Amino acid sequence: MAVDLLLGLQWGDEGKGKIVDVLTANYDIIARFQGGPNAGHTLEFDGIKHVLHTIPSGIFHPTAINLVGNGVVIDPVIFRKELENLAPFGLDIKNKLLISRKAHLILPTHRLLDAASEAAKGKAKIGSTLKGIGPTYMDKTGRNGIRIGDIELPNWKEKYRSLANKHEAMIAAYNVALDYDLAALEADFFAAIQQLKALTFIDSEAYLFEAMDAGKTILAEGAQGSLLDIDFGTYPFVTSSNTTAAGACTGLGIAPNKIKDVFGIFKAYTTRVGSGPFPTELFDADGETMGRVGREFGATTGRPRRCGWLDLVALKYAVQINGVTQLMMMKGDVLSGFDELKVCTAYDYQGQIITHFPYDIEPEHVTPIYTAMPGWSEDLTGLTEASELPNELLAYIDFLEQELRVPIKIVSVGPDRKQTIHR
Ligand code: GDP
Ligand code: IMO
Ligand code: MG
Repeated sequence: MAVDLLLGLQWGDEGKGKIVDVLTANYDIIARFQGGPNAGHTLEFDGIKHVLHTIPSGIFHPTAINLVGNGVVIDPVIFRKELENLAPFGLDIKNKLLISRKAHLILPTHRLLDAASEAAKGKAKIGSTLKGIGPTYMDKTGRNGIRIGDIELPNWKEKYRSLANKHEAMIAAYNVALDYDLAALEADFFAAIQQLKALTFIDSEAYLFEAMDAGKTILAEGAQGSLLDIDFGTYPFVTSSNTTAAGACTGLGIAPNKIKDVFGIFKAYTTRVGSGPFPTELFDADGETMGRVGREFGATTGRPRRCGWLDLVALKYAVQINGVTQLMMMKGDVLSGFDELKVCTAYDYQGQIITHFPYDIEPEHVTPIYTAMPGWSEDLTGLTEASELPNELLAYIDFLEQELRVPIKIVSVGPDRKQTIHR
């Protein structure tokens, strides 16, 4: 067994990028399995902050191979920008970064369709990152998509044209005001495709079979979070891929019996960016403090993230769906200074007390029930040992471990690689 998975357990932005970077030293291969440039994974070391969207978060490690798996959707224009951002660091991209031929391409018209769909929904919009994710996965499951492997074939541009023409008709049918210059977008797109072709495309499932046979260690990197999963998230306010453990099997071609550990990452509180229900959301000074101290702004869109208390009903659900074996708690430092912390342990669901995550968590049906715990005032950001953590934080961690029945193995106390406490 050679594969471990790392996934976000909430609504994304839990700190996956940071932890993948921390763990990469233990692995030969880091493989992204789903999502696309809707993701923004931040890592920080040597005083520099990096944000990655499609490229796996192990890219800075000197020897690890980074694979963009078949389950990922790639926007060549954004990919090129990511590579430009990496250029000053002199990484051996040709050999260290591999791309699955089966990954699907995000076309300029997919982005336009995303915008048209959101505009047509008005107030009911999903709050999409407008990166074309939904329309690209729709074309994948609709069996119309264009894959990385296609661009190596001679007549893929005909396939492109016919799909883009169909998209234009669909955009018109939305009947919303959308200004765009497709010729300019396409010129940029085809130029970016030319640059993409200089990278290494592979039959990634075959590569991974061989790697596993050779005893290599693999870490699968998830994007988004379990509550944004297309099947198990807060539908329709979700993304369009399986962000949960099963997505790693389909997004890389890895069989379930090859998976060893499942690392579940969560913030010590909860955030959400975009629309959709969020039972423990705070609209008061506490929520404002979390957002300010935690610098809760989207790494991809810059939008402010909604903040609230930790929701154990939702977290337990995510632990179960993913089969989490180890937990990692992020941003504990942000909670320093609260007199009292609250943790949601049950929902009042239409007058009944429930502890499972129900079909619908709309605010008119769900009121969170909280357990209060004492806070701590110590600054955690300089701590390096578990033994230095304040007693109130240790009690918080104990309580979560008892409720979730999974050990919390990492406590993160700041954005930097070094601000990571192993237990
Ligand atoms: P991802 O999408 O899961 O990789 O997470 P993001 O990068 O979108 O958002 C996490 C944010 O929190 C980034 O700005 C990180 O630098 C930051 N971060 C990660 N861990 C910690 C932590 O323990 N404490 C603090 N204060 N910030 C953290
Ligand atoms: P990482 O990997 C947080 C949210 C969007 C929106 C919904 C659908 O950085 O954790 P989409 O563009 O996928 O159609 O948007 O999902 N969303 C994320 N929220 N972190 C992300 O990724 C997200 N990717 C998508 O805000 O609510
Ligand atoms: Mg993010």
